[in-house]
Amino acid sequence: MDTVLSGIRPTGNLHLGNYLGAVQNFVTMQYNEKCFFFIADYHSLTTHPNPKDLHKNVRQVLVEYLAAGLDPEVSTIYIQSDLPELCELYLLLNMSAYLGELERTSSFKEKARKHSENINAGLLTYPVLMAADILIHNADKVPVGKDQEQHLEMTRKFARRFNNIYGVEYFKEPVAYNFGKELIKIPGLDGSGKMGKSEGNGIFLIDDEATIRKKVMKAVTDSGPTEPDSEMPESIKNLFTIMEIVSSPDTVTYFKEKYTTCEIRYGDLKKQLAEDIIKVIKPVHERIKEIDSDDDYLKRVASQGAEKAHESGIKTINNVREIIGIKKFY
Ligand code: TYM
Repeated sequence: MDTVLSGIRPTGNLHLGNYLGAVQNFVTMQYNEKCFFFIADYHSLTTHPNPKDLHKNVRQVLVEYLAAGLDPEVSTIYIQSDLPELCELYLLLNMSAYLGELERTSSFKEKARKHSENINAGLLTYPVLMAADILIHNADKVPVGKDQEQHLEMTRKFARRFNNIYGVEYFKEPVAYNFGKELIKIPGLDGSGKMGKSEGNGIFLIDDEATIRKKVMKAVTDSGPTEPDSEMPESIKNLFTIMEIVSSPDTVTYFKEKYTTCEIRYGDLKKQLAEDIIKVIKPVHERIKEIDSDDDYLKRVASQGAEKAHESGIKTINNVREIIGIKKFY
């Protein structure tokens, strides 16, 4: 049985990209593998969120995780800050993470460029904390979207380096996982980039049917192809990328042919796309309200998750301490 671990930052409601990239298909895995799903609240602190928002967002991700079908009876669902051993592993891994490689990380360079007023050490060592998240349970597989690929590569590097320094084969080298398929990147509806929580280009699990239809109908398109077999602009490619994941292959082929022969009507494509997105989101959407109103259940899930995560974390940290030579005198 493999150990699988997946995490999401609590920075807002979950969108279609989070759901398809890191949750949906993995719901079925929890019955065959040892799964950990956690809420990365420490990771979200690099932008100094308002404390009330932070707590509300952690709760919301917990609700949406459960609404998506994660089962706390078989999986370990926990909040990152409920696992104290993680901070120790983060500190220990920092001793063999080098400034140059951290500075060269794409996510660091991008965030430093966008927020030049707040380039903090937490941002720099973000990949080390992420490696600690994964290695604290010695995970084999990590379900993530394409944007996290480099972080997984760094995790493998840190694991390998630790093993080399101490002459052990302790940490496994985890892989970014999507059932043997390419990792996915769900684009936004604004014609560029990926779907994000704060980009204003997303469809969220809390969106009702009318909202989803409205958002999809407003997605950026162009004036349509004028010559057969002409190159698709980014905005249209993006709609097809989403369609390839949420719609049937026949639907995709139908609209692609219409595009190639210049007969496509974007209104029809969007209508179909909206209905197919609704089909994916609706079962989750319907459960959100019910779970959201059950405080006792959420408390129980969080405390049970904390306990199970701790059980796994303490084992790892005790082994790591021994490997490193940290021994008690009493
Ligand atoms: P975060 O919170 O930005 O995103 C959570 C998960 O959703 C995936 N994702 C997407 N997948 C496809 N298309 C998109 N448009 C899209 N947007 C987001 C992300 O790839 C991710 O899998 N650093 C992580 C959180 C984290 C983590 C970890 C993940 C912390 N520690 C350990 C895995 C393992 C992050 O910021 O994800």
